[in-house]
Amino acid sequence: MNLTSEPWGSIEPSDLLDPIGLLTDEHDRQLALGEALTRLADEPQGAGAARTAEAILGYLERRLPLHVAAEIEDFYPLLQGRAEYSDEFEQFLVAMREEHDADGTIAQELAEPLRAIASGKSPPDAGQFQTRVRRFTALQRRHLLWENQTILGLARKRLEPEDLARIGWKLAARYGVPHPEAARAQTADSQAPNPAANRAASAPDGKRKSAGETAFGRLTSRVFGRKKK
Ligand SMILES: [Fe+2]
Ligand SMILES: [Fe+2]
Repeated sequence: MNLTSEPWGSIEPSDLLDPIGLLTDEHDRQLALGEALTRLADEPQGAGAARTAEAILGYLERRLPLHVAAEIEDFYPLLQGRAEYSDEFEQFLVAMREEHDADGTIAQELAEPLRAIASGKSPPDAGQFQTRVRRFTALQRRHLLWENQTILGLARKRLEPEDLARIGWKLAARYGVPHPEAARAQTADSQAPNPAANRAASAPDGKRKSAGETAFGRLTSRVFGRKKK
């Protein structure tokens, strides 16, 4: 799967060097997606609605499952191993699992009306679509708040640099994005050494894109005439 040209913003190799930042960026995108969904439910026939519905559908069906899998399989087990008893991480895990399940169920329920809008039609039941969108966005906001404040806060506190490096490699495999250190090793192996290219491959710019700077942020801004922060 090529994630570098998707409408909600790409995952770049340098993002893999900052896994917590990558997760935070995805959460920003999910908040932007929730806002776009709410507007779409209010105006399912508004200008640009079909394109927005298609972009949201793509995120919910392809990128959100990858994000959830990255949390459950890549982040949480390492964090569980580092957490201290007083962190009460087990309790968070139970709550997060329940919320991921609920999130997935509602996301599936949104697929049919989103497909209708993406093909230029009205959702089969506009009232039901609005209700589902409200449930989804309320759950999503609460979930993101928990994860940003609790889980990612704990990750910053407890994970060691080697844990983050391991997660970066796991995320590279999961998202199908080349790890910058793999590119560096490849360059070093080549017969014609190029120190400048090595430096370029191994030096992340350190800047993370906010949701408003991503293509998805620009898309929702264009469609709804509102700039993301
Ligand atoms: Fe998350
Ligand atoms: Fe999550």
